[in-house]
Formats: sequence, C-alpha cells, structure tokens
Amino acid sequence: MSKIQKGMEIDLEVEKLAFGGKALCRHEGVVVFVEGAAPGQLVRARVVRKKKQYAEAQVTEVIRRSPRECEPFCPHFGLCGGCQWQHIPYEDQLSWKRRHVLECLHHLAGSKEAMVESTVASPRQQWYRNKMEYTFSERRWLSPGEIATGLDYDRSFALGLHARGRFDRIFDVEACFLESPESVSILGEVRQWCRNSGLPPYTTRTHQGFWRFLVIREGKRTGDLLIHLITATHPRGETVVDGLALHLREVFPSITTFVHSVSQKKAQVAVGDSSRIVFGTGFIEERLKDLRFRISAHSFFQTNPLAAEGLYEAVLECSGLNGHETVWDLYCGTGSISLFIAPHAREVLGFEIVEDAIEDAYVNCRLNGVDNCRFRAGDLKEIILKALRESGGAGRPDVVVTDPPRSGMHPAVVQALRELAPRRIVAVSCNPATLARDLAMLSDVYTIGRVQPFDLFPHTPHIECVVRLDRKE
Ligand SMILES: C[S@@+](CC[C@H](N)C(=O)[O-])C[C@H]1O[C@@H](n2cnc3c(N)ncnc32)[C@H](O)[C@@H]1O
Repeated sequence: MSKIQKGMEIDLEVEKLAFGGKALCRHEGVVVFVEGAAPGQLVRARVVRKKKQYAEAQVTEVIRRSPRECEPFCPHFGLCGGCQWQHIPYEDQLSWKRRHVLECLHHLAGSKEAMVESTVASPRQQWYRNKMEYTFSERRWLSPGEIATGLDYDRSFALGLHARGRFDRIFDVEACFLESPESVSILGEVRQWCRNSGLPPYTTRTHQGFWRFLVIREGKRTGDLLIHLITATHPRGETVVDGLALHLREVFPSITTFVHSVSQKKAQVAVGDSSRIVFGTGFIEERLKDLRFRISAHSFFQTNPLAAEGLYEAVLECSGLNGHETVWDLYCGTGSISLFIAPHAREVLGFEIVEDAIEDAYVNCRLNGVDNCRFRAGDLKEIILKALRESGGAGRPDVVVTDPPRSGMHPAVVQALRELAPRRIVAVSCNPATLARDLAMLSDVYTIGRVQPFDLFPHTPHIECVVRLDRKE
C-alpha cells in the first residue's frame, strides 16, 4: 500500500517524459506524473491528485538540475497553457516524440516491428504559427509573481490566453513567440484600445458584455495579415469596431483585412453567427510549395504551414502514385492534401463534414487550375460507402489518405476501409494513441511500412505522424 496522499511533499527523480508531455517519476513503486519537470532532475513536488494507479504532483523546488534542461525563453512559461516543453532542448523534444510514437505503436497496435524514423524538425521553432486566438475577460488573472509585486493592477479587463489548465482564467499576454513580433504588438494595441472603449468584455458568468475574441492570422509566405474580431451585440457595436479597425490600420499598415463577427453563442468558441468585412478582401492567401490557398476568417488551415509542406510531401511519397490512380482523401478539410496529390493522380475525391471547408476546397482548386478533384460533404461514417455504391463500384479507390481529428477514425470508417481494400493507405494523425488503435484494426490486412513523425508544434508534446500501409497480398 502506497503512503502517497494528496497534499504531501515528496522528492522525485525524473525518469522520462511520458506520452502527453508530463514527467514520469516513481515513489515507492507508484507512478507520479509531474508537470514542468525535466528528465534527470531531482525535484520536490506536492501531490495534487491521488488515483488508484498513479498520482499527480506539482514541482515546488528543483533540488538538482538536469544536465539536459535549458532556460525557457518566454516570461509566461509555466503559467501559460502553451509551450510546456521550453525547458527541454529542441533535439531532445524530437527524440521524445519519436519514442512516444514507438511506444504507442508497440503497446496499442501490438506492432513490435514498426520502424519509426527520426522526427522531422519544424523549419522554425519560434514564430511558426499562422493563427493565434486570444480571449477577452472581465477578470484579469494575475500570476503569483505579479501579485508579489504588490502593484495595484487593473483586474477588470484582460485580453490574452488561458492560464495553464484553467479555462476560466485569462492572463494578459505581454510576450509570445508563436506567431510574430507584430502580432504581439497588435494584441497590446487592441487590448489598450478596447479597454478605453467604454464597452465591457463578455463574461460567461452572466453572458453579458461585448468583446469576446481576437484572432490574428498571417500568411507566412505572403505577409497577408487578417484581424478577426468576435463580439456580442451592442447598439453601438459596429461603430465602435469600425473605429478600432481604422485605428489599427493607421498604426499597422501591414494589416491587409479586418473582419468583424457577431456571436450570440453561449459556448466560448471564436466563431461568429454572422460576419462582415470592415476592410480588405476578408481572406489571406498562403503558399505551400507552388500552391496558393485562400484562407478566410473561419477556414481551417494547418497552423504551421512551413512544417506542413514537409508533411504533405511525405504523404505524396508514401502514396507512391504513378498518375493513374483514384485517390480518396478522407477528412480533407479545405483540400490541401487533395491539391498536393492531384497532379500525380487521375482523380481525387475528398470527404469532409464542414460544408464551408468544401467550398474553400473548390475555391483552392480553381485558384490553382486543378480540375481533377471533387469533394463530398457529410459525416464520413455515413457517406463513405454511399460514395462507392453511387459510383457503381467504378470509383473504388486505389489509394486512400486519411487525416482524422484527434479522436481518430470512427470504427465504421475503419470497417469501410477494410471493405474498400485500397492497395495502399496513408494514415496522417495528430494523435499517436488513436492512430495506433486504428492501425490495430487494420493490422490483419495491411502491413505497416514507413512511420514518419513530424514536429508541427515545437515546445509542446503534440506529434503529427504519417504512416504508409500496404495491403497484404
Ligand atoms: C486534422 S483535420 C485534417 C485537415 C486536412 N487534411 C488538412 O491537412 O488541412 C480533420 C478534418 O476532419 C474533419 N472531420 C471531423 N469529423 C469528421 C467526420 N465525422 N466526417 C468527415 N470529416 C470530419 C474536420 O472538420 C477537419 O477538417
């Protein structure tokens, strides 16, 4: 029986980084997960949760540093919900990610022989994101450091990110290395302007207030810059927002377009019920290799486009196309993978649940002169086999690319893949655990070939992966 109890302080040697990002330690045989610790450290930590199989603890003191830790570069490190691996050297982050893919495949897919390649690094480790989403709040969260200064902070207004693990706490972001220095300056300017506007931030406590979200999107290759402001309604709402847009355009001439959306939703999601373009075109353009993409305020697009290029090239390589194949692109979003593949295939059929994304996909095809892609909107588990029946079997895919959300493929979709029996499947995934689960359901009919992890989110435990599967003869 372990003596570990909630609230007690214990000294822990950090063994490794576990899948999901936390440090793994052991105390009297019990696994203890610790946030913010590095392998090789000896830490004192307070137990914050005790479960049957494991405990969770928070570092109170680093007793011995690790030879393999580094100085975090962001002043908000440890308090912000993003970038929890800044204290791990980048090359170590890459090898932990590879190891986590390997462990998932071994333990969850039972694949002992899968060869996992080295993780491909992100071309940029800072300023890599093309989109940031900030939240307004009528209660500013202060860090323990800020409280310790004794200064009289105005706590009635915040615009920033969520404090780690707290969806109800927003802190003012003063520095951030994710999007661009300019986006941080815009954030500061918007905060100051809105605070002085006389209109209050929206609050989920009463569902009153005006300012809700600020989204900044930029084209890494084009320099286009889109500001998307989401508010609630107010009689003076449009006039006030027009004033903000005018002000920002003067201070930041690089802003190419400004979109204002109004949301009456109770849920805290940065999506408008209706939108209007205040100035500019309402979209930005981005380039991946020689393809152009139009990204509007609500479109989905890979958030690290420079790293996504490498990922899409790996998808193309793993597809092994010779120009004569029918390819199905499952969970195709705005069709980026379809467009990459189209010049190397006879035809591509993309499937996606969000109808707006399908519209964007067709726009992207026209923009690039691609005419061999078609798209179908709907829930894949309902439409995948229907597509085959409607084509009378003639449209049976030779190759299927699948890129599901974190939850992985629905079992009915995996079953449909078994029926379709394409000669090759290229599985793209942002969650090695659900990837391994889905591969296990295909392992009697497909052989796992190349497994290639990619780092699309430096300084976080997130892993993207491309896997080639060949049908067993
Ligand atoms: C990881 S994204 C892939 C996007 C795309 N392949 C790309 O690289 O840009 C997953 C996509 O699956 C879509 N999706 C989620 N659930 C779905 C479902 N049940 N049926 C069809 N599409 C779904 C989402 O809307 C999202 O666009």
